[in-house]
Amino acid sequence: MNSKFGKVLITGASGQLAQALMHSAPAGTECVGLSRAELDIADEAGVQAAITSLQPDCVINGAAYNLVDKAEGAGMEAALRINALGVARLAKACRDADIPLVHFSTDFVFDGEKRTPYTEADATHPLSVYGASKLAGENIALAASPLHFAIRVCRLFGPIVGETTGSLQKPAGNFPLLMLRLGQERESLKIVSDQIGSPSYTPDLARGIWQLITRGEGGLYQLSNAGEVSFDEYARAVFKLAGINCRVESVTTQEYGAPAHRPLYSTLNNAKAHATGVTALRHWHDALTEFVQQL
Ligand SMILES: NC(=O)c1ccc[n+]([C@@H]2O[C@H](COP(=O)([O-])OP(=O)(O)OC[C@H]3O[C@@H](n4cnc5c(N)ncnc54)[C@H](OP(=O)(O)O)[C@@H]3O)[C@@H](O)[C@H]2O)c1
Repeated sequence: MNSKFGKVLITGASGQLAQALMHSAPAGTECVGLSRAELDIADEAGVQAAITSLQPDCVINGAAYNLVDKAEGAGMEAALRINALGVARLAKACRDADIPLVHFSTDFVFDGEKRTPYTEADATHPLSVYGASKLAGENIALAASPLHFAIRVCRLFGPIVGETTGSLQKPAGNFPLLMLRLGQERESLKIVSDQIGSPSYTPDLARGIWQLITRGEGGLYQLSNAGEVSFDEYARAVFKLAGINCRVESVTTQEYGAPAHRPLYSTLNNAKAHATGVTALRHWHDALTEFVQQL
């Protein structure tokens, strides 16, 4: 793939998707990653200074507040500050510099009432503060400039590189890593059986994202690995691949009782990304197999 951008600034650079993007940048693209300690995306002057001094051709925002349950309570302000205000800072600074911002959103902008994959044209209706904050972020990015991308992704898993630096404690890393840890500690786990979506492998997504932003125009897109699965079946797949003998007790979302409401169905239709020239991502189970084998 020919490189379209000479220099790309990646914010939230210690995040799992940001790391995968930096590892798979096309030849000829220099990525400058700034972690939260180096650039707080909600700091207007800091964002402006970073763009003025680095002169990137594109900014990719890997920063986010992803603690879905905490955002219902003590984390509400942080969710809005990072997922909405921070995106506004970046979107405006990129517009002023006449460069695209690539921002990521989530399947949690939907309410899960559908039973077929959601398209970009489907109505949004977030059920949680996190989902609302992410919807605000994607709307802000898209309203600021036609150059800007908002790409919805879902259920990320992949290598976690290094330690996280910040005070936003990260309880799990991602679902397969959490299952691998808990599955070795416990004989059984209660896992939700009625939330369906597409686990997505960050190295696969990163390749697709580079294709999308190289070949596509700004706008709203969705990208995920192929296939869909419930969390209990996802956990069973992790245990089977890793040879872990942990019993999965299937429970409903209501029985599990997490603070934040989540969509029961949120598979993302990828047709628009494919039409833009993105190679379809493989089935999530093939990607999970590779991930578990590499650990
Ligand atoms: N993870 C998922 O399953 C999932 C699902 C749907 C959509 N998404 C979206 O996909 C994107 C990538 O997610 P991810 O899983 O790669 O996220 P992640 O691993 O949680 O990384 C987010 C990064 O943002 C940093 N950050 C937090 N506040 C910041 C601030 N004010 N300024 C700069 N950096 C800040 C964090 O730093 P610290 O580590 O220092 O706190 C962390 O390194 C996000 O937009 C997310 O909302 C993720």
